[in-house]
Amino acid sequence: MASLQKILSPASRAAAVTRFCFRPSTLPVIVNKTRVNTGIYGNPFSRLASTMVPKLKDPSLFKQNVCYVNGEWVTAASGKTFEVHDPATGALIGTAPEFDPHDTEKAIAAAAVAFEQFRHKTGRERSKLLRKWYDLMLENADDLATLITWENGKPAADARGEVTYAANFFEWFSEEAPRIYGDTIPSSVPGNRVFTIKEPVGVCGLITPWNFPAAMITRKAGPALAVGCSVVCKAPGETPFTPLALAELAHRAGIPPGVVNVITALHNTPQVGQELTTNPTVRKISFTGSTPVGKLLMKQCSTTLKKLSLELGGNAPFIVFDDADVDLAVAGAVASKFRSSGQTCVCANRIFVQRGVYAEFAAKLADQVRKFRVGHGFDAGVTHGPLIHSRAIDKVEQHVRDAEGKGATVVLGGHRLPGLGKNFFEPTVLTGMTTGMAMAEEETFGPVAGLFEFETEEEVVRLANATQVGLAGYFFSRDLGRVNRVAEHLEVGMVGVNTGLISDPASPFGGVKESGFGREGSLYGIGEYQVTKMITYGGMGKPLQA
Ligand code: SIN
Repeated sequence: MASLQKILSPASRAAAVTRFCFRPSTLPVIVNKTRVNTGIYGNPFSRLASTMVPKLKDPSLFKQNVCYVNGEWVTAASGKTFEVHDPATGALIGTAPEFDPHDTEKAIAAAAVAFEQFRHKTGRERSKLLRKWYDLMLENADDLATLITWENGKPAADARGEVTYAANFFEWFSEEAPRIYGDTIPSSVPGNRVFTIKEPVGVCGLITPWNFPAAMITRKAGPALAVGCSVVCKAPGETPFTPLALAELAHRAGIPPGVVNVITALHNTPQVGQELTTNPTVRKISFTGSTPVGKLLMKQCSTTLKKLSLELGGNAPFIVFDDADVDLAVAGAVASKFRSSGQTCVCANRIFVQRGVYAEFAAKLADQVRKFRVGHGFDAGVTHGPLIHSRAIDKVEQHVRDAEGKGATVVLGGHRLPGLGKNFFEPTVLTGMTTGMAMAEEETFGPVAGLFEFETEEEVVRLANATQVGLAGYFFSRDLGRVNRVAEHLEVGMVGVNTGLISDPASPFGGVKESGFGREGSLYGIGEYQVTKMITYGGMGKPLQA
């Protein structure tokens, strides 16, 4: 997200910092028994990992200093590059091209030429291309996962999980591609016939975050290609190498030149974002990231009235009622709160627990969190990796200190883990959370579970909805009446009932309020990349007289 933040003008940047959508895994486990200065977890493998350059089975998937434009690997015209670092160790991974608006314009132009051919392929032809891309992702899953862990930090098992999740979007949309239907509509004018066809919107700009280096691209590129669009994907500055490897697989899959373009920038991200959002050839922008950046992009898109999908920040309520299965709720909280060390937009952010089960839930949650193993994502047994960068760590620490200062109790964790590296933070459980605390207002995007106590259903629904954003919400209850009432009253785009995991290519993903609009995945994801064209036939004559 840091690079996405750079889309902002300097003036807007400060505001964005507070609502920056940091982005996904599970909590730390003590890999050895060594206590480090301020943390409780140590890792004997961290030094080893810090000097380690992972081996890819296919080293040609690791593309340095080149972007993928019009079916070719090209450098930035300026020759400039930026550095990418392992968030766990700070070690240099490699360098990627610093594209500028002029480079971006060339990618857009290539996508425009490719669109004119690609849109006329049959759905079945597009389906086969997506399916091939899917197959290649699975064949190269180990390497893709290695790249994800290396540049994002998430543990190897989570990275592997992301590759499957990401590839599944291609599978899902390859199955949708041949099933693009229009409507026939009874006309109100005698003799007229009305029907609709669905057309691809055109060249799409995809702006994706670092927390799912593969899945956030496939979730957008899958439906775009399924309906016949071409794409220019701006990869995140923190994690460009996974997107570039996906581009190499697109090439091997035989996707025609210019249909998929993957470009990179770090310092130039605002200018590249500006080009994508104002170039009239681009007809659609899909963005996943923070609400402030989403608002800025929307403003920029208004100059050419582009179609938009915005998947923005959340502040997810996670509610445990007295009648819940507490063990299930604890498992749900671990999955939702600590996935990718708290760095997803659908992570639980405010955990509301009803008075009758509060103490039990807090103790059981802390017991589970205590089992986490924090360390370098390549190290065996590690369940939780580092956060993405120092700004993420600063925010998490600030939230914990703010809560402590206002009366919360640190049950577990609460500190950085400098013995592991500068981006590590202890998985943390706080009790005694109240509404005046920063965590009640802002997305923490880190491994901190803050527990708020409540008494009634009405009270907790009011508290849950007391936020400007509404992406995901979760609750645990065995009362069917309550399940329906609460699910219907939560002001969010997605509700998990008795589960902490809701992401699935078959399910519509998206928010309400300032969490944005548009849906990704599912049958609804297709429409985001289409326009409906109505066709009326007049003068079709009178009915036949029998
Ligand atoms: C996100 O953090 O925006 C995506 C999370 C997911 O797909 O589950």
